Amino acid sequence: MAKKHPEGYLTAKEARKISKANRKITNELEKKRKRKNVPESEYTTQMKNPENAVEFDDLHTYFFTDAGTVKSVDGVSFDVPIGKTVGVVGESGCGKSVTSLSLMQLLQRPHGQILSGEIRLNLGDKVYDIAKTPQEAMQKIRGNEVSMIFQEPMTSLNPVFRIGEQIEEVIELHDGEGKTKEDIKARCIELLEQVGIANSEGVYKMFPHELSGGMRQRIVIAMALACNPKVIIADEPTTALDVTIQAQILDLLRNLKDEINSSIMLITHDLGVIAEMADYVVVMYAGRVVEKGTAEDIFEHPSHPYTIGLMASKPVVGKEVDELYSIPGKVPNPINMPNYCYFKDRCDKCIEACNGEYPCEISLSETHKVSCYRYYDQKEGK
Ligand SMILES: Nc1ncnc2c1ncn2[C@@H]1O[C@H](COP(=O)(O)OP(=O)(O)OP(=O)(O)O)[C@@H](O)[C@H]1O
Ligand SMILES: [Mg+2]
Repeated sequence: MAKKHPEGYLTAKEARKISKANRKITNELEKKRKRKNVPESEYTTQMKNPENAVEFDDLHTYFFTDAGTVKSVDGVSFDVPIGKTVGVVGESGCGKSVTSLSLMQLLQRPHGQILSGEIRLNLGDKVYDIAKTPQEAMQKIRGNEVSMIFQEPMTSLNPVFRIGEQIEEVIELHDGEGKTKEDIKARCIELLEQVGIANSEGVYKMFPHELSGGMRQRIVIAMALACNPKVIIADEPTTALDVTIQAQILDLLRNLKDEINSSIMLITHDLGVIAEMADYVVVMYAGRVVEKGTAEDIFEHPSHPYTIGLMASKPVVGKEVDELYSIPGKVPNPINMPNYCYFKDRCDKCIEACNGEYPCEISLSETHKVSCYRYYDQKEGK
C-alpha cells in the first residue's frame, strides 16, 4: 500500500494505486460470492456448541476504501445462545453494526467484505457458515431465518405503499407457498395484533406517514417476525423513540422472544437497555471484543478499563455528581491501528506490560473473558 504523508493526506497517484489494489481484492471476493450452483458442502459446517444459534468466530470484516483499508471488525468472536438475548455495546464506530451486517450479508459492497473467520448459523438440521455462503443461498436465509430491525423505521418502510401491502409482501415472499390472499391478510392482521396494535384493520390501510414513530417501529418488528426467524438482530431499535415508547417496545421484544423462542442480538450504546434486556453482554472497542460475559459478570464485575469507564459514564438516579464522567481521548483511526492495546492511549490503569502487543483473551471464569494485561496473572498455565 502507498505510504501516507506525515500530514495524513494521499496524492492522487497514491489514491489511484490503492484503489487499483482494492479492486483486485474485491473483484476476486465478489466473483466467489456470486457463483451459482455451489455445492452445499462448501458452506455447511458444525456448531462448536449446538446450544448456540450463532457463533462468530474470529470474524474479520474490512472496507477497502481509497484512503486505505478500514478494519471495522478485526477478530471478533462471541456466541448467541438459542432463546437468549445478547447485548452488544460500545462507542460509536466500534464495529457493532458491521458485525451484524456481516451476519445478514448486507455489507456495502463491493468495498465491504468478510475477509476471514466464520459465522456459524444453526438452523437445526444444518449449520451454515455465512462467511462462505454464496449470494444465491443467502437470499433464502435472510428474512427467513435471520431478520433485522433497524434504528430508523422509515429506512425499512416504503412511503408510497400502505402498511398492509408491505407486510403482505414479506409474508408472500418468505412464507407464501400454498397460501391464498385471505390467508395472507389474516396472517398480516395477526402480526399487527401480536405487536400490540389495537386498531389493526385501520392501520392495515394506512400509509407509514400517518403513524407515529413508535407505531412505525412496531410495524417494522411485525415485518421482522413474519417468518418466525431463529435470530432477530435489533440495531438500536429504540434510539429514535421516547422513553415510554422505548419501554413498551422492549417489553414487546422480550415477550415475542419468549413466544417464538428465538435469539436476539441487541445492539445499543444504552447500558440501561442492556441491563434490562440482555442475558449476555459483549463489549466492543475499535473493532474487537474487549470483554464479554453474562449480564451479571459485566454489571457486577466490570473488568476491562473500557467497560469500567462505560459504567462510570452512565448517569445513576439518586446519585448526585458534579460532572458526569467521560472517557478521555478518542478511538484510534481504524485505517492505522497501533500494534499495542487499542485502549492504551486512553487508559488510566495501565501497567508496565501494556507496552507489549495487543493482549490476548483471559478467562476470569467459565463465562467471563477479558482482553487486558491487568489480568495476565490469571492466565492459564502461568
Ligand atoms: N460503508 C462503509 N464504508 C467505509 N467504512 C465503513 C462503512 N461502514 C462502516 N464503516 C466503518 O466501520 C467502522 C465501524 O462502523 P459501525 O457502523 O459498525 O459502527 P457502530 O459500532 O455500529 O457505531 P454506531 O454506534 O455509531 O452505530 C467505522 O469506523 C466506520 O467508519
Ligand atoms: Mg451502528
